[in-house]
Formats: sequence, C-alpha cells, structure tokens
Amino acid sequence: MKPDSLAEYRSGAYSASTFWPDGFEKMGKKSLALDYYQATPYDVVLKPERCQGAWAEHFGRQAPLHVEIGMGLGEHLIQFASAHPNMNHVGLELKMHRIYTARQKALRRGVRHVRYVLGDASHSLRAFNREEVDRLTLLFPDPWSAERFARRRLTHPEMLQIYATLLKPGGHLHFRTDDPDLFNYTCHHLTAFPFNVNISVLRTRVLTDFEKRWLTLGRQIYGLDAWRH
Ligand SMILES: C[S@@+](CC[C@H](N)C(=O)[O-])C[C@H]1O[C@@H](n2cnc3c(N)ncnc32)[C@H](O)[C@@H]1O
Repeated sequence: MKPDSLAEYRSGAYSASTFWPDGFEKMGKKSLALDYYQATPYDVVLKPERCQGAWAEHFGRQAPLHVEIGMGLGEHLIQFASAHPNMNHVGLELKMHRIYTARQKALRRGVRHVRYVLGDASHSLRAFNREEVDRLTLLFPDPWSAERFARRRLTHPEMLQIYATLLKPGGHLHFRTDDPDLFNYTCHHLTAFPFNVNISVLRTRVLTDFEKRWLTLGRQIYGLDAWRH
C-alpha cells in the first residue's frame, strides 16, 4: 500500500504538510525521511488507489465498511470500531501525527479492525469503489467559513457527490458540527443528492475530541443522518 519509492512519495498527492508530522521540516532532519517512510506501519495506507476493491484482503476478512473522514485523534473512530466489531473501519486524516495518536489508542485498547489513510479526503476517497461503503462519518470538519474557501468544505457539493457515489443504496452518512452556517449549507446542498435526510443529534452518542471541547464551551451541536436511496 506504500508508494514505490521515496521520490514517488514526495511527488504528486503527498505534500510535505500531509506527510511530515507538524514541525518536522523545521527540525532540519530530512535525513530521517527514508527511515520515517520505511517505518510506516502496515495499517497506514499511503497509496489509496491500491486499496480499491482490496479492503477485504487488507483487513483479512469481508465485512461492511465504515469510513470516517477527518478522524482527528481518532476517539470516535476507535470507540465506534470497538462497538461495531463486525465492520471494517477506515479513518481518513490529513495529518500523520494524528493518525499515529489514533493508532496508538487503538492498539492500547486492543482494537485491530481499523486502517488509516493519510492524505486529503478528496484524494484518499479514491481508495473506495462505487457503492462499496456502508457508512460514512463526518464529524466536526473545519467549516471554512469564508466564501472563497467554500471548495475546501468537506460538505461542498463536489464532496457530497463523491459520498453519494461511494455509499451503497441504503448506506448511511452521519454528520455533526457545531457550526450553524456549515450545517445549513450542508442541509441545503444535500437536497440535490439521492438521500433521505433526518435532522437530529442523539443524546447517546460517542463524543469526539472536538465535540467535548465545544460542549464544555456551551456550544450547540447540530447533526443529521442521511440514507442513500
Ligand atoms: C476540527 S478537526 C475534527 C477532528 C475529529 N473529527 C473530532 O471531531 O474530534 C478536523 C480534522 O479533519 C482533518 N482534515 C481537515 N481537512 C481534511 C481533508 N481534506 N481530508 C482529510 N482530513 C482532513 C484535520 O486534520 C483534523 O484532524
């Protein structure tokens, strides 16, 4: 699942900011690059295209597929995986150091049926075939409030189109945010796609790291579930 060479790794989809942990470049330790690359563990995917249609092989079993986009430090992903042992779980994340934190958590808690894809979701989602995914989770994505950054929103119509394509009929998209504008924007754009939408936030749910922070600050949480028809 790795690129074939360090040169390939450095070109194309893998920008320095996604590959290196924060501050790594500034540390002036580029000589560690090869070690770092070679040490990437088996459960961290660097080349998403190679996973297309190969997840059963990668997990060593055939099971429904859950994908969490922008999983951050992985608290939700790992707890959700723990509660759903009969699914295969994949976390997508832009930053390697967050993947490592999540991975350590999973290993400490004995959760083995989780894999991670490093990179921008718009690229990482190439890891999945059309109608291959059973559940997509998107929790507290960056709102990118300024209109000029609208295309970076993970609920931009271009991303919603990808989600609709990757989910199976009957597949489930779960979304939560503390940002009312992003929530309204998402609800508005979802109407153009084949989803039945239910707006609500369950009282009993696995809280994410960011969600705990927002709740402490007294912010309201907005959520929806959408089923692909
Ligand atoms: C605000 S944090 C929320 C993290 C986690 N979902 C939570 O609720 O605790 C957003 C996360 O998404 C990641 N992220 C942002 N844009 C992304 C993208 N285009 N592709 C993949 N991950 C992304 C960030 O690195 C960050 O970890």
